[in-house]
Amino acid sequence: MKSNIISVLFLVFGLIIFFLSFSTAETRGRLKRTLPPYEYGTIVMNQFSEKKGLEPVIFRHWSHRNRYTCRLCHIDLGFAMVRGGTPVQEEDNRNGQYCGACHNGKEAFSVKDRGNCKRCHSPYPVGLDQEAKRLFYKVTKTLPRGRFGNGVDWTKAEEMGKIKLIDTLDWYSFKRPKMKRDKGEIEMVPKVKGLPDIIFSHKKHAAWNGCEICHPDIFAMKKGGTRFKMIDNFNGLYCGACHGKVAFPLKDCGLCHAKPVSL
Ligand code: HEC
Ligand code: HEC
Ligand code: HEC
Ligand code: HEC
Ligand code: HEC
Ligand code: HEC
Repeated sequence: MKSNIISVLFLVFGLIIFFLSFSTAETRGRLKRTLPPYEYGTIVMNQFSEKKGLEPVIFRHWSHRNRYTCRLCHIDLGFAMVRGGTPVQEEDNRNGQYCGACHNGKEAFSVKDRGNCKRCHSPYPVGLDQEAKRLFYKVTKTLPRGRFGNGVDWTKAEEMGKIKLIDTLDWYSFKRPKMKRDKGEIEMVPKVKGLPDIIFSHKKHAAWNGCEICHPDIFAMKKGGTRFKMIDNFNGLYCGACHGKVAFPLKDCGLCHAKPVSL
């Protein structure tokens, strides 16, 4: 009992020191910044729009990830995993590329219809968009709750079959051999002694991401092949390439560190 208390104290102390040691202004900002659930994962795309006299484009992950896998958009359709990384032209959309792969008047409202321009090219800040907010609560009402981010437990929503993810578009995604699925769970052992273990499930990630999003760009395909630290995650690399941007935020320590961590 006594040794338990001591190890908890040690852990708390360790975490405080750990935080002080890398708490740059940016990291603190990342941790503190709390977006309302309906704005988490929302991207303003504006490489060309304002220059052409149009409102920037607002893309919401929640209104798409409840239907499609990350893989479909980020591998097959070629959207970059960094904001501002995809050069979308009006012509591409009209030719059925990028947003136009779905916004074709069948799968979703058409990019060619003048009445629809404003549904994507819409004013920001996004928080002022009451219609999107209403839609958010309607779409997420029946989904299991999560603590942060969109306030939705997306993993559970998928597992429970509350959402059914589409992974290919017949008219777009080209067929190719799939990488072998389900290598089972990989236990990642933290390098720092005394820290709770890391939870990482290949199976759960592959449901959303396939294999190609992570391999070989984000992680080497070798156990222990990628060396990184928590600060790298906070800087948007490795796990932080998704967690903290679209997947649940990094402040939900307990979802990755198996044993309770407190600050
Ligand atoms: C489904 C969403 C969507 C709809 C609907 C849509 N656009 Fe866009 N459009 C985009 C995206 C995304 C970009 C790239 C934004 C950026 O980086 O500036 C873009 C960029 C543009 C650009 C700037 C790039 C270029 O080609 O010069 C123009 C002009 C444009 N759209 C016109 C229109 C018009 C006109 C309509 C209505 C007929 C329309 N768009 C409807 C998503 C949409
Ligand atoms: C319907 C298509 C679509 C789906 C599905 C989708 N994304 Fe995206 N994602 C985009 C677009 C579009 C952007 C913006 C790219 C740009 O600005 O060039 C983006 C950007 C991102 C970014 C960069 C965000 C930032 O702040 O820099 C990350 C990370 C990301 N997506 C992860 C995911 C994950 C994880 C999933 C699955 C849970 C997912 N995406 C599902 C279309 C999609
Ligand atoms: C994989 C298919 C797919 C792609 C790619 C896609 N969308 Fe959508 N989008 C949908 C579907 C389906 C809906 C909901 C049905 C509808 O409203 O017609 C939707 C709804 C929307 C909405 C209304 C809901 C909301 O979030 O406010 C906007 C705006 C939107 N998409 C923007 C975009 C933009 C911008 C892009 C490209 C950057 C894009 N979409 C790419 C399928 C897609
Ligand atoms: C969300 C990111 C992610 C996705 C998606 C993913 N992996 Fe991995 N993969 C990892 C990580 C993290 C490791 C461990 C790397 C390390 O230990 O340095 C890993 C390791 C591996 C290894 C080496 C394991 C070992 O024991 O040597 C193989 C093989 C592998 N992945 C295959 C796959 C396949 C096949 C898929 C698709 C079903 C896949 N991965 C999807 C992140 C991912
Ligand atoms: C998305 C998953 C994820 C979340 C959320 C997360 N971590 Fe980590 N954390 C990791 C991974 C992966 C490592 C690296 C493990 C290793 O050493 O290989 C790590 C390492 C660490 C380390 C070891 C020292 C170091 O710098 O690498 C500490 C301390 C830590 N995390 C604290 C935290 C705290 C505190 C939180 C919540 C604010 C948190 N983590 C949230 C995945 C996560
Ligand atoms: C390519 C994007 C991506 C990367 C990289 C990534 N994840 Fe995830 N992860 C997701 C998505 C998407 C989910 C589904 C839940 C959500 O979106 O909040 C998820 C869910 C999880 C879950 C919840 C699974 C459960 O059992 O409920 C854990 C834990 C997790 N990730 C840990 C990690 C760790 C640790 C790393 C780094 C080694 C990592 N993730 C890297 C996208 C990613």
